[in-house]
Amino acid sequence: MTDTFAARVREMNADAPASAFVEVFGCQQNEHDGELIRGMLADMGFGFTQDAALAKVVVLNTCAVREHAEQRVLGHLGAIGRAGGSPGRIVAVCGCMAQLENSQNTLKRSYGHVNLVFGPGDLARFPELLYTALTKGGRHFNQSDPTAPPEEGLPVLRAAPPRALVTVMKGCDNFCSYCVVPHTRGRERSRAPEAVLGEVRGLIRQGYCEIMLLGQNVNSYRPNPDSAGIRDFPELLAALASLPGDFSLRFMTSHPKDASDKLFSVMGAYGKIAPFLHLPAQSGSSRVLAAMNRGYTREHYIALTERARAAVPGLNLTSDIMVGFPGETEDDFGETLGLLEKVRFNSLFTFIYSPRPETPAANLDGVPPPEVVKKRFARLLETQKRIEATL
Ligand code: 5AD
Ligand code: SF4
Repeated sequence: MTDTFAARVREMNADAPASAFVEVFGCQQNEHDGELIRGMLADMGFGFTQDAALAKVVVLNTCAVREHAEQRVLGHLGAIGRAGGSPGRIVAVCGCMAQLENSQNTLKRSYGHVNLVFGPGDLARFPELLYTALTKGGRHFNQSDPTAPPEEGLPVLRAAPPRALVTVMKGCDNFCSYCVVPHTRGRERSRAPEAVLGEVRGLIRQGYCEIMLLGQNVNSYRPNPDSAGIRDFPELLAALASLPGDFSLRFMTSHPKDASDKLFSVMGAYGKIAPFLHLPAQSGSSRVLAAMNRGYTREHYIALTERARAAVPGLNLTSDIMVGFPGETEDDFGETLGLLEKVRFNSLFTFIYSPRPETPAANLDGVPPPEVVKKRFARLLETQKRIEATL
């Protein structure tokens, strides 16, 4: 079906290929979705331009994880609108922001040049949606199905080797109270192990030697029981690490509540699995962790990192830390600093809490005043910098 629409657009491009402009915001999953979008556009006969004003099709694959990410997208969209473009141009907004009702309303109201909007679950429908927009005119706002199965066999235009991004699972069921992702990317759905193994085999043949496995929470990878005998992420990782060839494997992201000793022992057992573990802690205070609905305590987290380090020699451990969550006291923040001192992460991604639509935390009182949050954020950076200097 999708192929038919792709073929129709290809026909429209047959005599004079039009060009497309694609910009990606946000995480590596979004980066990879951008590779699929470029792959589908190339398959539909488009060339590419770096100048949105020259493009027949403009696609912004957006992020909604923090308000700042949305503001950046809106800034770029505004500039694209002001610079103008050819008549009949399609300006498409997809990705996480496109799935949120709030953001869709903003686009409807204030960004009249946007004429196609679709969420992350509608990626495989892109040729159909684009064909409709190109032929019917008007504005098309879609809500993607949060349970749509992971797409297989889409054309892909990857970055050049060495690094290739490979989706293992999509979506997230954790509903951390601050996080928009379960609302944008929908429910957890795992790809069939054979599909992942087949894709990675092909990539190794093409000369990709750094394979990055992606999932919002790779540790909740649960394929259908009938496929290949692989039941969980450590088993998939072991099967991938047993493939012949000269390559290394990395993965992200691991939720601490689901990271297991089985995972650590597989990591320690195979030379092809790089000793890297990204294990977002978010906070060092069990009280804040409970309010975040993270499903683990400070003690659990610390013990987990100790077991990971014992199982994986030379482990490079990284984390995400957020400051300014509603109700975070000076003591809670002190516990976060204490966690940094105790665990001594190799590096850290640091964030200031940003209330997001459709999330329960957005209704919580007690966000610390901005000047307090700024100071905490600076102390967080300072502490980590000092620790890194002594590693
Ligand atoms: N505000 C600030 N940071 C957030 N993150 C996720 N949601 C929010 C939010 N509402 C951070 C978390 C997550 C990383 C990808 O982004 O630390 O692990
Ligand atoms: Fe942004 Fe999260 Fe969506 Fe990635 S999954 S694009 S980080 S909101």
